[in-house]
Amino acid sequence: MANGRWRSARRRRRPGVSPGLLLGGNTGATGLAYGPLVTIVDPAPLADLLGYVGAATPITTAPPVSAPSAVPSEPASPDGQPAGAGRGGAVNSVVNAVWATGGSAATDRDAALDAAFLAASARYWHPVARAADVGAAPVRAELCDVPLVLWRRPASAPGGAAGTVAALVDRCPHRSVPLSGGQVDADGRVRCPYHSWAFDGAGACVDIPQQPGQKIPDLIAARPVRVAEAAGLVWACLADEADEARPRPRFGEIEDLAWPHYVGTVQNWNGQAARQVENFCDIGHFSVLHTDTFGNDEVLAVDPYPVRRTEWTVEADYRYPSVNPVAEPGPDGRRPVGETAFQYRIELPFAVWLGGATGPSTVLFSVCAPTSATTLRLYWMAAFDPAVYGDGPVDGVGLQAVEDRIWAPDKVIVESQRPARVFAADEIHRAFDALGVAYRKALRELGFAG
Ligand code: FES
Ligand SMILES: [Fe+2]
Repeated sequence: MANGRWRSARRRRRPGVSPGLLLGGNTGATGLAYGPLVTIVDPAPLADLLGYVGAATPITTAPPVSAPSAVPSEPASPDGQPAGAGRGGAVNSVVNAVWATGGSAATDRDAALDAAFLAASARYWHPVARAADVGAAPVRAELCDVPLVLWRRPASAPGGAAGTVAALVDRCPHRSVPLSGGQVDADGRVRCPYHSWAFDGAGACVDIPQQPGQKIPDLIAARPVRVAEAAGLVWACLADEADEARPRPRFGEIEDLAWPHYVGTVQNWNGQAARQVENFCDIGHFSVLHTDTFGNDEVLAVDPYPVRRTEWTVEADYRYPSVNPVAEPGPDGRRPVGETAFQYRIELPFAVWLGGATGPSTVLFSVCAPTSATTLRLYWMAAFDPAVYGDGPVDGVGLQAVEDRIWAPDKVIVESQRPARVFAADEIHRAFDALGVAYRKALRELGFAG
């Protein structure tokens, strides 16, 4: 059971209600080659948007990768392992089996996988910044290899737009300078740092100081990006509404119920977004990787658990004998153990609603954005039911400290995985991997593997 130190580090709870134990997140970029100097602002197909910033052309045929479509009962060998690639195989076979990314064929395959991954990712909403980090000065962000500039319109902005967030592709159409190096004027337009052309939040060029009074053709415009502010984050979708795969996932406890919550610090990982989500939902590693926090090294066995799939979620529940991450050890040298009821709800493709991790009536949100096909930016929030924990502010310092200790080894693991691209890998699955396997299957069905 949680001790007083931990409770005070998290939130003060109401008497008589047990909060359980805190558990938390368990959890190459491609170069830009800018397209035409002047780009039409009108809605364009997704492929045009990606082409605008130089991403590879989305593939239309699946690359030669393999993975199971369902959890194998007891696989005797890695899925997709070629016949005859056994112990006595040639050195090349061994090398190819272990380092599946080697050689030009693998390079071509990786490029195809990356193109598919980015094209699929671009059809969803992803966070691009914490809302608190976007103010009057332009902020640079990255999403699916697309550089973005974000800013918050000032109170003086006309048209009822005061205080709202705007986003453009971070490139001035005049001489390809990043607009994020400029400034926002009193009317809420971003001005380029090179010649001070002004662009509004829709991308329209509204002032060319070198030619005052002249009509500015509509053709002179920066690329607008749709943004929304919710759950403490700024979200963006690179696709036009017609190409959007699904609406932005809602986090009802924050957006609708206004539970007190904390928005954690943001992390950049050199890993693929899909790998991070899978790690966050990997039950089997708790008792191995997280024994310095909540992992219980006396219970490594994972009981069978069902996985549910809905149109946009993959879900599973699991009860785990967690160790209190902040309790002092008892006379036997061990910290107290209590059951944590994890409720996983993966909001496809890269967000996770996780109930119970920081105690009953709490939700931990892990939302990762693919900054490129093989890098990610990780956001997290924690929300607490005021009926249980009161409606006072969340003590983010204590929460952040514990979560940092949990995220750290996960980051090391995900960044170490080779191949980095999950759909380039031939890997073994066991029954306890059911949630991760179902997640991979869902991503495949949505086109993330091509
Ligand atoms: S490069 Fe932006 S105004 Fe000239
Ligand atoms: Fe973990």
